[in-house]
Amino acid sequence: MVDFDTFVILLLFLAGTTVKGAIDDLDRIIRTLEKCGFRDRFYIHCDGALAGLMMPFIKQAPKVTFKKPIGSVSVSGHKFMGCPVPCGVVITRLEHVKVLSTDIEYLSSRDATIMGSRNGHAPMFLWYTLNKKGYRGIRKEVQKCLRNAHHLANRLREAGVSAYLNELSSTVVFERPHDEAFVHKWQLACEGSIAHVVVMPNVSVEKLNNFVEELIGERPRWHEGGGFRVPCVAKDIGQENCLCGVHDKKLRVV
Ligand SMILES: Cc1ncc(COP(=O)(O)O)c(C=O)c1O
Repeated sequence: MVDFDTFVILLLFLAGTTVKGAIDDLDRIIRTLEKCGFRDRFYIHCDGALAGLMMPFIKQAPKVTFKKPIGSVSVSGHKFMGCPVPCGVVITRLEHVKVLSTDIEYLSSRDATIMGSRNGHAPMFLWYTLNKKGYRGIRKEVQKCLRNAHHLANRLREAGVSAYLNELSSTVVFERPHDEAFVHKWQLACEGSIAHVVVMPNVSVEKLNNFVEELIGERPRWHEGGGFRVPCVAKDIGQENCLCGVHDKKLRVV
């Protein structure tokens, strides 16, 4: 039995999961928690490492705001924003900041960092990037990323490569290339049977086309001898997105 007086849930709401780029439905999570009787006995951290800075520019994306019962939000500066050093921002409620921070006499301020020190360049990089691109510039880049991600997913599917693009995401997931040199050359992140491309503002349509052409050109060679068969990735990206001999609708006799 759960003791509802003391039970606290720590939830991680991912704004763009690492491998498949999924975006959780924040409002639904909150509704479900409240419906199940948890009310104020939960804590939600919104992990927006990749997509946190893209979501405000995507109409259908969940609105992340402290008007909702969330505890904290984090975003990375070196991902979508392209800052040249690893950096990020965590925003939380004052009540939590107060618990974690202490007054530092010689700084005449409060400090909430683990080591009592921080990188002074990181906020400058972030401030510079945000100001240089501006609201409209960032919106344009978000739209470009989503458009290009759709382009990549469509081109892969047209070429017979199983591919999946999560709603509101710019992370294209597809069958893992069977050649480590190719994976290394294109710096593909792989997990099990799948690989992904995170389409960021620096990735052009031309680069995506080159990638697809090279993949299609090389692919049959990786299976020489055994005969080429499209690998099944249904368990990773769903039957409806898998183009293997068993799941491809075009190949199935109705
Ligand atoms: C969902 C998610 N959270 C956190 C991280 C880690 O972010 P950082 O590189 O800023 O430590 C990643 C990195 O890929 C991620 O995808």
